[in-house]
Amino acid sequence: MWHVWRMSVEEIPLAGGNVSAGVVRVGDTVRRQAGPWTPAVHSLLDHLWSVGFRGAPRPLGIDEQGREVLTYAAGEVPWPHHFDLLEPLDQLARVGRLARELHDALATFTPPADARWNALIAADRDELIVHHDLAPWNLVIGDRWVVIDWDNAGPGSRLWDLANAAHGFVPLSAHPDWQRADAGRRLRTLVDAYGLDQQQRRDLVPLLTVRTRAMHDFLRDQAALGVEPWATHWRTGHGDVWRADADYTEQHTDRWLKALLD
Ligand SMILES: Nc1ncnc2c1ncn2[C@@H]1O[C@H](COP(=O)(O)OP(=O)(O)OP(=O)(O)O)[C@@H](O)[C@H]1O
Ligand SMILES: [Mg+2]
Repeated sequence: MWHVWRMSVEEIPLAGGNVSAGVVRVGDTVRRQAGPWTPAVHSLLDHLWSVGFRGAPRPLGIDEQGREVLTYAAGEVPWPHHFDLLEPLDQLARVGRLARELHDALATFTPPADARWNALIAADRDELIVHHDLAPWNLVIGDRWVVIDWDNAGPGSRLWDLANAAHGFVPLSAHPDWQRADAGRRLRTLVDAYGLDQQQRRDLVPLLTVRTRAMHDFLRDQAALGVEPWATHWRTGHGDVWRADADYTEQHTDRWLKALLD
């Protein structure tokens, strides 16, 4: 009995996150620090569940320590050690379909009147509530594919979220270890799977750069204000990475257009 009880309360730290300290697993649940945005995020996650979307954790409330409680998703987080899981184009296509299903499910979400969001970067426009950090560090690949880390959800647009997803999942990276000759083909695979029309493809391409540069600018501005954890991220070179990726993405604009348009 003692053994069973101990098992059920053991807290297992979950490594991998950059921002939220102290994410732990307790049994089949995850506990994360809550914030003023947590009630709005939980209403969003409840909505996703109620419309049958299964690619997000289910919210289970707040625990005795004030932490949010979510269902634990079993599987691997592809970034940075399991990106091989996303190498096959059909796996990348699955990301595109998941993003589409997610956005279609979010399109019917009406936020509570008093919703408070924690979107860090203003989107190109306000069309629906989106995730704002769709990336291989916020996806669990298991029997089910689950998008985690909803802290930055907020007003945005499908294309804004998809531009961000393209940066991480293709990836659109200038870094020698991550830059790839088949980036155009992978971008096309992601976008075909999502199902953008021709006009949306044209509109997406400039956003690829704008979204990536916005992250750089955000880190720069927060660092100037001394706001953590961003100041540390900036100091340790994250800003340079986003700037290099934005420059690379911009320099290859014609390549992305050609890859996406018939
Ligand atoms: N619902 C969940 N199911 C399974 N594992 C999870 C879940 N939520 C978080 N994790 C694990 O905890 C790690 C950190 O979680 P999370 O991404 O929420 O933290 P974060 O620090 O806010 O991340 P980021 O650096 O992306 O901002 C993830 O990499 C993942 O391994
Ligand atoms: Mg995360």
